Amino acid sequence: MSYELPSNIDFSSPESVSKALADLQAAFADEVQAAHSADAREHFRVRWFGDKAGLVNRGAGAWIKAIPSAEKREFGAKFNAVKVRLTEEFQAAGAARSSATMAASLDLTLPGTRRGVGVEHPLTRTMREMVAVFAALGYSVALGPEVETDFFNFEALNFPPNHPARDTQDTLVIADQSSRPSRERLLMRTHTSPVQIRSMIAGPPPLRLVIPGKVHRNDESDATHSPIFHQVEGLCVDRGITFSDLKGTLDHAMKAFFGSSVKTRFFPSFFPFTEPSADVQISCPFCGGAGCRKCKHSGWIELLGCGMVDPAVFAAVDARRVENGLEPAYDVSGISGFAFGMGVERIAMMKYGVGDIGQFYSGDMRFLQQFA
Ligand code: PHE
Repeated sequence: MSYELPSNIDFSSPESVSKALADLQAAFADEVQAAHSADAREHFRVRWFGDKAGLVNRGAGAWIKAIPSAEKREFGAKFNAVKVRLTEEFQAAGAARSSATMAASLDLTLPGTRRGVGVEHPLTRTMREMVAVFAALGYSVALGPEVETDFFNFEALNFPPNHPARDTQDTLVIADQSSRPSRERLLMRTHTSPVQIRSMIAGPPPLRLVIPGKVHRNDESDATHSPIFHQVEGLCVDRGITFSDLKGTLDHAMKAFFGSSVKTRFFPSFFPFTEPSADVQISCPFCGGAGCRKCKHSGWIELLGCGMVDPAVFAAVDARRVENGLEPAYDVSGISGFAFGMGVERIAMMKYGVGDIGQFYSGDMRFLQQFA
């Protein structure tokens, strides 16, 4: 890299001028070939095209100054043509080099980026499988809002005014509702049962509905509780529906979901909107009833609440139907029904052996990938 601008050009001799320009271009061509790396190219750019000290600009300045004025115009034109050619050569060399590096970094033998196939979240899956059991029995799916009024969540479901479940301890209420009549105050639904009321107001019996959904309670989070969780609810209303229908339906549903050897048993319980009410236990599907960790060595697992629709619920539904200009259709002789409700998280935790409810909501791929 020894080229330097010559200082001994005889500007009165066209040969001497041509030789100087030819030397300049030859030196440029040698060096542009040698500038391989990004650093070398940058060094080259500064050496030749740098604003003040670059050879091209310095050459132009020094030579124009030395030239007799008669020759200035002609030499200037020549020198400019050379400068344009050098600039183009420099850019062309850069473009060729960067496509060469690109070709070198494109290795067609490397494996492609594989995108994982998505799978259902275990809660969605449990909910869908439970809904499918009832869909196969002819139940339709009904949905309702998560922000509810006191009327649908409590009043029409026969909750007495100071029932503990209405208490602000359990219910997340929407702020600034005190100016509204109590039945119109908004809250986050604490169960899927308000969809029973909405569905009965909307249409006369017969009704067979399965209602999956998200519910909210003012509960502290721990290993088995979350303030937001999911339920699957059922409602069947028709002429002459009996407690045997309820037992037969749930017994079938539990066998369809957990396996045909599972047994069910019913214990007296209480819900304001069913009478009589029952809690349902299933024989432990893991140990067959012999006793294991999952059933806490009792052989049975409590899974859902149910009962016959309380006549007070039918009365509240019909009162609202009449308010809405509809015929009463439920609080009439011969019409009866049953309802049931279960917690999705509880079932999924048991089925998949999940010890902490928080895992469902963590978004931790190591947990979720186990269900893929
Ligand atoms: N809604 C009740 C609860 O959340 C469950 C239930 C539904 C009980 C339907 C009986 C009938 O606890």
